[in-house]
Amino acid sequence: MSDTRHFLSLLDFSPAELGQMIQRAIEMKREHLEGRDQRSFPGKVLGMIFAKSSTRTRVSFEAGMAQLGGHAMFLSPQDTQLGRGEPIEDSARVISSMVDIVMIRTFGHDIVERFAAHSSVPVINALTDDLHPCQLLADMQTWVEHRGSIAGKRVCWVGDGNNMCQSYINAARQFDFELSIACPPGFEPDAHMLEANRDRVQVQHQPARAVVGADLVVTDVWASMGQEEEQQERAALFAPYQVNAELMSHANSDALYMHCLPAHRGEEISAELMDASDTVIWDEAENRLHAQKALMETLLLANS
Ligand code: CP
Ligand code: NVA
Repeated sequence: MSDTRHFLSLLDFSPAELGQMIQRAIEMKREHLEGRDQRSFPGKVLGMIFAKSSTRTRVSFEAGMAQLGGHAMFLSPQDTQLGRGEPIEDSARVISSMVDIVMIRTFGHDIVERFAAHSSVPVINALTDDLHPCQLLADMQTWVEHRGSIAGKRVCWVGDGNNMCQSYINAARQFDFELSIACPPGFEPDAHMLEANRDRVQVQHQPARAVVGADLVVTDVWASMGQEEEQQERAALFAPYQVNAELMSHANSDALYMHCLPAHRGEEISAELMDASDTVIWDEAENRLHAQKALMETLLLANS
């Protein structure tokens, strides 16, 4: 089990491996759009454990595994013994003895770590309270498709210092870009992550200043899954942090903006930007499919 490769964080792969995976995702997207047969993994089974809601992640993993010739199985705590207190470690031993790869969306990051430590097959983090690395594969693919290499560029995160923001900190390190974060005081990302990456990541509280010189501006919901009861309080505190045309006017003139979705028009992003004809947000969402097919292929081959 100890030499099984997992994808719990962008730090689990080297910068070179991540770059190769993005190129492979672009290639697999082209093949898919050309109608090529991509069924390289007949009979392989993906177990998908969702303790939180999802549209993009579920559809992209399930469709992706079908396109690779395998099968995906949706498992929720409500319908499995996971929701009745069976230990994660026991569940990992049993589930991994029956499937070839597992993805998990859950709350505490320790849950995916404990599952992976007791799994005999690769485990993918499909979002925890701390990180959302699969989304970053799609975001980086989208950047590369539209602009080429992101190395040396300047990215600005506007909003909550949440799982997406923290994944951007890891991405800054692995893909070699500068990251400026604008968040309300008290909503900064993890202090240890900031300290470990202070050579390329800065935090401040003024979005209009933070986006100056930005090539890419990224935001996300103000209240993440599990924080629903904080929604109203956060909406007031985060109001000055909306990504809109006025804010984008302070960034570089050809700057792109991204949002992992689902979005709340009129909160963290304006309707005008969401509905702009030239937004890359829909490419970003679609690329979840292609990036995760490349990820599953990489992990299945590495552990075959
Ligand atoms: N961006 C993302 O992960 O979307 P879902 O919550 O719909 O999976
Ligand atoms: N930060 C959001 C991302 C959703 C894809 C959440 O965790 O709910």
